[in-house]
Amino acid sequence: MNTTEPMPGSNYTPYLRKQGSATQLIVDDKPFLILGGELHNSSSSQLEYMQPIWERMAALNLNTVLAAVFWELMEPEEGVFNFDLVDGLIQEARNHNLRLIFLWFGSWKNGTSSYIPLWMKQDYSRFPRVKLSNGQSIEVLSNLSEANQQADCKAFAALMHHLREVDSNEHTVIMVQVENEVGVLGDSRNHSDEANQTFNSPVPQKLIEQLQQHRHELSAEILQRWAKTGFKTSGSWEEIFGSSPETDELFMAWHYARYVDSVAAAGKAEYELPMFVNAWLDYSRLKPGGWPSGGPVPRMLDIWLAGASHIDLFCPDIYFGDFQQWCQQYTRRNNPLFIPETLLNETSPRNIFYAIGQYDAIGTSPFAVDGPENPAHISLSKNYALLKQIAPLILEHQGKGEMTAFILDEEHPSVTRELGEYELEISLDQIFGYKAERGYGLVISTGGNTFIGTGYGFRVIFRPKTASPTHVGIANVDEGEYRDEQWIPGRRLNGDETAGGLAWRFLEAGLSIGISHCTVYRYE
Ligand code: DGJ
Repeated sequence: MNTTEPMPGSNYTPYLRKQGSATQLIVDDKPFLILGGELHNSSSSQLEYMQPIWERMAALNLNTVLAAVFWELMEPEEGVFNFDLVDGLIQEARNHNLRLIFLWFGSWKNGTSSYIPLWMKQDYSRFPRVKLSNGQSIEVLSNLSEANQQADCKAFAALMHHLREVDSNEHTVIMVQVENEVGVLGDSRNHSDEANQTFNSPVPQKLIEQLQQHRHELSAEILQRWAKTGFKTSGSWEEIFGSSPETDELFMAWHYARYVDSVAAAGKAEYELPMFVNAWLDYSRLKPGGWPSGGPVPRMLDIWLAGASHIDLFCPDIYFGDFQQWCQQYTRRNNPLFIPETLLNETSPRNIFYAIGQYDAIGTSPFAVDGPENPAHISLSKNYALLKQIAPLILEHQGKGEMTAFILDEEHPSVTRELGEYELEISLDQIFGYKAERGYGLVISTGGNTFIGTGYGFRVIFRPKTASPTHVGIANVDEGEYRDEQWIPGRRLNGDETAGGLAWRFLEAGLSIGISHCTVYRYE
């Protein structure tokens, strides 16, 4: 990951910068929290179709739209580029005060190669495809072909060159996703003659060296496989990692990483925006090929880190499974968390708060935000409005151990977290026989005895970390809002609203959630 601060005068192209243990995206010289939403795949293929969507995106309180740009439309004839669509998208985003993350639908989109231009599709001997083990070709470009790679590098470099020309002052486009959910579906590896030959050749020394260097932090899966052959450092893929579909996946991951890295490098040579890849996750524990084999799934992260140094973030598209565990897996080895796709439903707000508050995510982005309006849109809009208000505070406190986030339900009714000088028991809100069924939120320690919190359905009871004075009481709780980064206090909360001074409460009130400040004090 490149977290080098640009030299003054380089016009501050968006870049990544460390703050404590967090990595932040810096846009126009300030940390930026992506409150994103990804469009349906085909929406950004026509400016007219997009016309009513921009307003809706702004009303959802997004600050960033993730929109595809398509190789087939950008290079309809070999070497002839058309950027009208790209320019129109940038212009409309600017008109609506939105930033963009472009998704490069190049060689691969969800494993397949349906977005390559027709002149490439038809020339399948020049641009070779993957073959399954039964000898059948599929509409998936081979990641071993120099011709495929060069064609993609050229097109992506042209896109990034153009972005530098039209956007290096305004920075409407803040990051770029390179390809989309790469990997081979339907088989664990490519079985073309060329692929078989490469598979039986020595594993590249560059990979071995990287694995040796990071041996203490490799995923358990890779470590176990390598251990079985006594950590051999030379030989073919099967000699080093044994014979199994998982070894096929390693082989594919390395070659996808190298290919995608060269595309990213070609793009960065023109305009150095932060770049990321996204993964179709290995939800089913079947075998590689059931999910796209070779994509940046958690257990392949080490291979991708070894092979794709021009990629700044490896990102999960989280649709199923345990959201919190995926966050954990994608922050391994200091990978900064960004979630380019996740479900847009009633779970979105709590997951978004959790990723941002607990894992210092750069941002989040539910998928299909331009779909037919439903209650999830209203809820997303309210939650993003709130996060917009406190984004400067979140960004100020990321990476310093001063913020915590949580998701509570009947199975997980409470958590205990240490923040500043206190231990916080955070549990589902309850009073007079009433108990919330769900709760989520985030709490920031702003120094000494003061805290800021947001969310709903939970309460906080403070305990001292030091022996005396023995007790912690609530000095005051004020609800309120931030306008232009200024705190505008509302009601003073006391009585039932603090359970008689016992707890800092966040009431479950339908879809409405709020922000409050709490100050505590100690007594004997
Ligand atoms: C994941 C892909 O990355 C998206 O482009 C889209 O196809 C969604 N799946 C559909 O759920």
